[in-house]
Parts: sequence; structure tokens; C-alpha cells
Amino acid sequence: MKTVLTILKWTGIVIVALVAMIVAAVYLNYPPKLNEPYPNVVAVTDSAVIAHGKYLVYGPAHCAVCHGAASRDDLETLAQKIFTLPLSGGLEFNMPGAKIHAKNLTPDKETGIGRYTDAELARMIRYGVRHNNEVMFPFMSFGNVSDADLQAIISFLRSQPAVKKEIPLDELNFMMKGVMAFLVTPYGPKGEIAKTVVQDTTAQYGAYLANHVAGCHDCHTNADLMTGKFIGQPYAGGQKTPDVYEDPHTWVYTPNLTPDPKTGKIYNWDKDQFIARFKKTGRTVKNSIMPWECYTSLTDNDLTAIYHYLKSLPPVYNEVKEVVVHE
Ligand code: HEC
Ligand code: HEC
Repeated sequence: MKTVLTILKWTGIVIVALVAMIVAAVYLNYPPKLNEPYPNVVAVTDSAVIAHGKYLVYGPAHCAVCHGAASRDDLETLAQKIFTLPLSGGLEFNMPGAKIHAKNLTPDKETGIGRYTDAELARMIRYGVRHNNEVMFPFMSFGNVSDADLQAIISFLRSQPAVKKEIPLDELNFMMKGVMAFLVTPYGPKGEIAKTVVQDTTAQYGAYLANHVAGCHDCHTNADLMTGKFIGQPYAGGQKTPDVYEDPHTWVYTPNLTPDPKTGKIYNWDKDQFIARFKKTGRTVKNSIMPWECYTSLTDNDLTAIYHYLKSLPPVYNEVKEVVVHE
């Protein structure tokens, strides 16, 4: 009897010690920090640069869909107002264990990007780390945006009228803090970062836009929902994406964009159909997180380049049967 009690006592002590160690490990490593380099990029007031930045922010890079819409009710009427929304943030993202808010990107000195230097701002966008080295929740993947495009983006952001709008603090429960501390790897640049990229209609420019600016790759490649790691062939689709209105029972599968004759969604589309699908038709699936509203502003040049790139991919047989599922 005594030995059983002793064993129980020691088991209890070991469990308490283990829990204490886990708690300590999470709190010692949360928030995770990374000492990433500062991009050598400064904002300018040249009107052509600012105009290109505005095009990227409201168009291919679709910053406006997250930083412009203040609530999910605004999504209903997004198509009409996307290009006039101030980037004052506030949209709330609810995930199991975390509530994250898109930040205020207007130049306000207390609540917006007026608080940061160009180098800090450029580093947030490229590396996903805050001014104090804290790793942000990985919502954005602009690691390989060229220096020239990053300069255009921050030049445009600086040129907007300031809007004073305090954004609520993010809330993460203990489990999510652990996930952030140990499992999440922030998006950062992979390989060399281009200084400038020639904006022609080649597949090469299309690859830059689709992979590094517009995020097509990130949704149209299958990924592990827990870790965010890509597990499918590039652009073969099948990723189970959440409902844009955050209904936890609704999911949308991304189509296969590779030129596979049997299962490739755009295999039969010619260039003009592809362009019209973006510029004229736009959103057809209400629940989709694809930022169709922003993409309506893509130039023919940029859509042509993306089209050429998608057509140049190796075909992958991957049948994505369902689009919207309710479970
Ligand atoms: C899919 C939604 C989404 C898109 C698209 C997006 N962002 Fe964000 N962004 C967020 C969220 C959410 C946060 C807050 C993350 C956090 O605090 O952990 C954020 C944070 C930021 C921050 C940090 C600001 C601060 O005060 O901490 C900057 C700067 C930023 N985004 C710029 C951009 C720019 C520029 C673009 C387009 C090139 C962009 N974002 C596109 C969702 C998005
Ligand atoms: C945030 C995730 C996301 C991003 C980014 C995204 N897509 Fe999609 N895409 C989806 C989802 C989900 C669907 C299926 C629902 C729908 O049609 O909106 C889809 C559907 C499509 C379709 C099929 C439309 C149809 O008529 O059936 C095409 C073509 C497409 N995407 C191309 C692109 C291209 C090109 C890009 C980049 C410029 C892109 N997507 C970026 C999630 C995304």
C-alpha cells in the first residue's frame, strides 16, 4: 500500500513538473522573435512609383481585402467599394484559439504606420516581423516581392491620408501561443530577392506575380491545414480553404490550375476567356476566400503573364471534385 502511494505521489510530482516545464517553455519562447535584416528600401514621393504601389496594394497583392474591410458585413458589398476603402484595418480573423486583427496601414502616428521607419515597415512586409523583432501571425507572404515593388508599396502607404483608428489587441490562448512559439515558421524570402522585375507578358513575369505578389500559389497548392506546409504539387489545387464568412462548417476546395487535359480547370480556356473571367465575371462563389474583387483591377498585361505562366506548368492529374462543402 505504501509503495503504491509513493508511486502515485512521484507520478503526480513528475506530471506537475512536466506541465510546469511546458508552460515555462511556451512562455519563455512566446512571442517568438527573429532578428531579420532591414531591407534597403525607402519611400519616395515620385507619382509614378506611388501609382504603381497603389495598383499592387488594391490589385494583385490584395492588401485592401484584409486591411480595408473593417468587418465581414463589408464583404457583401466589397465589389462596389474595394477601391475606395481606406486601409485603416480592423478586420477580425477568428481561428480556434486566436483572434487576430488586420492592422491600420494609414500614416497615423499613434495607431498606424506613422509609428514605423521605412526600414521597419519594409521588414514587416518582407519578413513578417514587427519593429521589436516579434514574429507576426503568418497571414502575408510577400517575402520575394522585388525591392522596387516593395518601395512602391511603402511609398503608396505613406502617401495616404492618415486615419486615427485604434486596432484591438490580438488574443491567443495558451495552445496557440505554443503553436506560434514552436510550430509556425514565418514567411520570409526564399532564395535571391530581385531588385526589379521586367513587367512584360512572359511566363517569367507571370511566375513572379503568381508566386510572390498575388498569392495564387499559396491557395492553389495543397497544404497541411495544421502546419501550413505545402504537401501537393504546385498549382494542382485541392487545398481546403476556410469560408470567407468564417462559418466553421463550410469549406471551399481550390481548383487545379495546371494544364492537365482531364482535371485542369483552365485547360480549355484561351487567354481572352481567362482575362474576362477576372475582369468581367469576378466572384461566383460567395464563400470563397479568393480576393476576386481586387483582381478585377489587374491589367491585361499582368493577367496575360499569369496565363502564360500557368500554361507553362507541368500538367498534374488531380481531380478536385467538389468546390463548396458543408460539414
Ligand atoms: C490575408 C489577409 C492579409 C493580406 C492580403 C495582407 N495583410 Fe497585412 N496583415 C494582416 C493581418 C491579420 C495582420 C496582423 C498580423 C499580426 O499582428 O500578427 C497584418 C499585419 C500587417 C502589418 C503590420 C502592421 C503593424 O502595425 O503591426 C503590415 C505593415 C502589413 N500587414 C502590410 C500589408 C501589406 C502592405 C499588404 C499587401 C502587400 C498586406 N499587409 C496584405 C492581414 C493581411
Ligand atoms: C486566398 C486564396 C486564393 C488566392 C490567393 C487565389 N485563389 Fe483562385 N481560387 C480560390 C478558391 C477557394 C477557388 C474556388 C472558388 C472560387 O471560384 O472562387 C478559386 C478559384 C479559381 C479559379 C476557377 C474559377 C472558376 O471559374 O471556376 C481560377 C481560374 C483561379 N482561382 C485562379 C487564381 C489565380 C490566377 C490567382 C492569383 C492571381 C488566384 N486564383 C488566387 C482561392 C484562391
